[in-house]
Amino acid sequence: MASAPWTRRHVLTLADFTAAELDIVLQTANSFNEVLQRQTKKVPALQTKLVTTLFFESSTRTRNSFELAAKRLSADVLNFAPGTSSLSKGETILDTAKTFWSMGADLMIIRHQSSGVPQMIAAEMDRLGGRVGVLNAGDGCHEHPSQGLLDLFTLCTFLDPAQPRTQLLMGKKVAIVGDILHSRVARSNLWSLITSGAEVHLAAPPTLLPQEFESFGAKVHWELAPALADAHFVMTLRLQHERMTQNLIPSLREYHQRYGITRDRLKGCQPTVKVLHPGPVNRGVELSSDLMDDPVLSLVSQQVTSGVAVRMALLYLMGSGTGGLGL
Ligand code: CP
Repeated sequence: MASAPWTRRHVLTLADFTAAELDIVLQTANSFNEVLQRQTKKVPALQTKLVTTLFFESSTRTRNSFELAAKRLSADVLNFAPGTSSLSKGETILDTAKTFWSMGADLMIIRHQSSGVPQMIAAEMDRLGGRVGVLNAGDGCHEHPSQGLLDLFTLCTFLDPAQPRTQLLMGKKVAIVGDILHSRVARSNLWSLITSGAEVHLAAPPTLLPQEFESFGAKVHWELAPALADAHFVMTLRLQHERMTQNLIPSLREYHQRYGITRDRLKGCQPTVKVLHPGPVNRGVELSSDLMDDPVLSLVSQQVTSGVAVRMALLYLMGSGTGGLGL
């Protein structure tokens, strides 16, 4: 277990995470990764805690891996399903959250299609006495911190499976390609990668990648080749049609021809290059189907596997601090 203290009640953004905090998450996730290799994959760390998942927007990976992570930590879990809830009777989001607070929730995992909802719920929980920790599981185009952390863990574990740590990314070139404008994953990854010392290169059509992203410390490219040249890792992102309010690309076919990641396009990268995608994937659009399934080049399945250990780490750190629990 990590020895440095963990001081955060909420995890809402990676923008203000220090490298030391990122390393606590990596180290803790690595310990849980070892637990997950055992025959008995469960530990009593959160035995007395109630974890609630409040997903107002659909999810496969994040919701299920948070539920599995909480169960592996022996927490009680309540999953809120908006479609069959009293939201349809006019109950507000805050009153919904307060209902779970009244039931004794210790941790709330929130996803919402609008930016700022997890922050709003966290402020309300603080106002109610500060017992509940809130984790942003993706809010609009803003951030998706647990995805950024699991991507970081996947990269660092690839570089050193025994001791994943941010230092390993110092000077490594990471290309992030796709719909940056609408991507909460891109924003969270940008913060964690830059804090880790990686060189972040962003590539997309100008309509999906404003020049202002350079002010965050990344290099902006509107052509793909310079972004991929000598890259150690290529992170691809989904075209997020549900968040586009106008036609920002001529066609999916043309997008794939100019910005789709294929084996051929990886030839300019480092020989050890690996490809990532947070999922869900539009196969044959942002990433060719054969490349996504390539067991050597693709880390997509590994990202999903890493998600459970990283989310166990976050729940553990937020729910218990770093006190020794004899893992
Ligand atoms: N990467 C991600 O957030 O996937 P889900 O939408 O399936 O949770």
